[in-house]
Amino acid sequence: MCGIFGYCNFLVERDRRFILNTLLNGLSRLEYRGYDSAGMSVDGDNGIQIYKEVGKVSALRELVESQSIDFDKTFISHSGMAHTRWATHGKPSRINSHPHRSGIDNEFTIIHNGIITNYKEIKTFLLKKDIVFETETDTEVVIKLTKYLYDSQKDISFTDLVKAVVKEVEGGFSFIFKSSRYPDELVATRRGSPLLIGVKTSQKLKVDFVDVEFSEGAERATLNDPTGTGFVDVASGTTGAPHLNRSMSRAFLSEDGSPQPIEYFLASDASAIVEHTKRVLYLEDDDIAHIGAGELHIHRLRRENDNSPISRTIETLEIELAEIMKGSFDHFMQKEIYEQPESVVNTMRGRVNFEDHKITLGGLRGYLSTIRRARRIVFIACGTSYHSCLATRAVFEELTEIPTQIELASDFLDRRSPIFRDDVCVFVSQSGETADTILAMRYCLERGALAVGITNTVGSSISRETHCGVHINAGPEIGVASTKAYTSQYIALVMMALQLSEDKLSTENRRKEIIDGLYLLPGHIKEVLATAGDLQQLSKDTLSKEKSLLIMGRGYQNATCLEGALKIKEISYMHSEGILAGELKHGPLALVDENMPVILIMTQDSLYPKVQSALQQVSARKGQPIIICNTGDDNLINDYRTIKVPKTADCLQGLINVVPLQLLSYYLAVLNGQDVDFPRNLAKSVTVE
Ligand code: UD1
Ligand code: BG6
Repeated sequence: MCGIFGYCNFLVERDRRFILNTLLNGLSRLEYRGYDSAGMSVDGDNGIQIYKEVGKVSALRELVESQSIDFDKTFISHSGMAHTRWATHGKPSRINSHPHRSGIDNEFTIIHNGIITNYKEIKTFLLKKDIVFETETDTEVVIKLTKYLYDSQKDISFTDLVKAVVKEVEGGFSFIFKSSRYPDELVATRRGSPLLIGVKTSQKLKVDFVDVEFSEGAERATLNDPTGTGFVDVASGTTGAPHLNRSMSRAFLSEDGSPQPIEYFLASDASAIVEHTKRVLYLEDDDIAHIGAGELHIHRLRRENDNSPISRTIETLEIELAEIMKGSFDHFMQKEIYEQPESVVNTMRGRVNFEDHKITLGGLRGYLSTIRRARRIVFIACGTSYHSCLATRAVFEELTEIPTQIELASDFLDRRSPIFRDDVCVFVSQSGETADTILAMRYCLERGALAVGITNTVGSSISRETHCGVHINAGPEIGVASTKAYTSQYIALVMMALQLSEDKLSTENRRKEIIDGLYLLPGHIKEVLATAGDLQQLSKDTLSKEKSLLIMGRGYQNATCLEGALKIKEISYMHSEGILAGELKHGPLALVDENMPVILIMTQDSLYPKVQSALQQVSARKGQPIIICNTGDDNLINDYRTIKVPKTADCLQGLINVVPLQLLSYYLAVLNGQDVDFPRNLAKSVTVE
């Protein structure tokens, strides 16, 4: 998905090489989100210079390095911005890459994450004004509109100009604007797409918040609409400077009130900022942040009916860059698979008391009785996060006895499923920024349901907009194929069910069995990881030569089959299908013969006899399944090719069984020569519908 990075230095001397490298490195940190082209906008020797390239950030780096420019030229103050694009409107190409510009002189430039839904209307309006477009993107209309509004009224401030622009724009976005009309300044704004600003100074900041400023300046811009199109002809409206309260940016002034040397880093994701500074503030929807002359001002349109907080706190990020680096592993996905013995502990840390078998999820304290009284619980998610809901649904129903429904966010929205005030809706999302899940959350909030978030990303939209929730604390996940987030989400949901049922005496023994299973889980995952060599061999000798792979199981393992098949198809591009073994005879059995590779999950739970019958059905059609079974299941081990896994409580077995499938998918992708961490056509965080 698209990534945004901006860098401003003020009274901090930097040469051009440093500035370009800082921007390129910022983009590299965002690479994990998935993208197809990259670009940047910096000061050249005559106005703004734009560089763009299709493909990896390294290709953009090569392009920049090949330029005959003075890399040693120094800038005491400068503003620059860069972008990774994931094509939505218009194919990946240099011209469609960001930054986009107002015209060939690069007077105004913009980078954008998200989608403009009314771009056609704006474009029609601008075409009538003889404005010429050069790209197929929705973003270009925004920068052409910026120039149009600027020309209508040239003495407008950069902030007021952007205010006037965003008032006309619909959809989801985060933008950064850079203009030769406002040298060394940047304006950033967001609506539904994350954006944060890091602050780096040598002196301590005076206060750790920035007040929001309201100005009436841009307000007048919409008062008249002479064209009748909904667009503003600002020329006739505004005069003079807006009424800003200049004292509001006091955080960034030195003791004597004069500006101090300072650097700002803007990004759609904290991973691009942590290496520079840990002091960050998150912008809220419709904030307009102006950086200029070393100061950061946050503006909003109007005070009336605005319920957002009146200041933005400068927080201290807790993630370390080392946490988001690959370490000694070849790929992030491999690292993340191997991190699971630790990440599952981090999810449980401080929350599970293994001695007295108690669970305390601090985030749900205060909401437990409301949740227990719910008429139903609806879990809503996408992709792997959805599978974690599917995997834990049975234990949730068993322990809480609350009717439980699971929904793919996109389908839930398509159906406009009825939601009521006494529903509890749980939104599960690694990133906390998945557009479909966010839209479903807002839909449920509007209908008065209690919204609970289960997310890995503190400060994400889902974390902030839900009433309460649980951070899964798995640490940053960078591989597009989700692995450690799945196991941590699974555990968070099991913990939630355990806590909700703590008042039920009848579930006491079952709860103890599960909590004991959680205690042993890190060791069990390590046992599976120790068999990686065998799995690599199996991939090499057998599976990598195949075109298709069926993964079958039932009950708790249905989710494991779907998740295993998703992993295989998303990174190795091999066709793979998860099949509920109970449905085998209703269709999928037609696919089975001696040539169709099958993995059958047959760990020992109450459905074992039924899966045995699936095994017979497959064997009778000359299928030669590879069986995932428990260590010690000698009958299977002697008669079939097996992948052995330790046994645990039935409802936790999926946490262990998924690990060999994660490893198989990884080895298949490596053997097929695929780009494991950045599979084609996919993105880590899908922030568009
Ligand atoms: C919190 C602290 C943790 C600290 C612990 C000590 C945070 C982020 N976590 O963890 O650093 O060690 O207390 O007691 O400060 N929330 C949502 N929606 C979500 C996720 C969370 O609203 O999607 C809310 C929770 O309801 C809670 C807050 O965010 O109010 C923090 O959640 P979580 O980190 O899970 O809480 P603790 O485990 O108590
Ligand atoms: C994307 C990712 O499709 O979004 C998947 O590639 C992920 O790995 C899905 O499962 C949902 O993301 P999230 O962040 O809401 O869990």
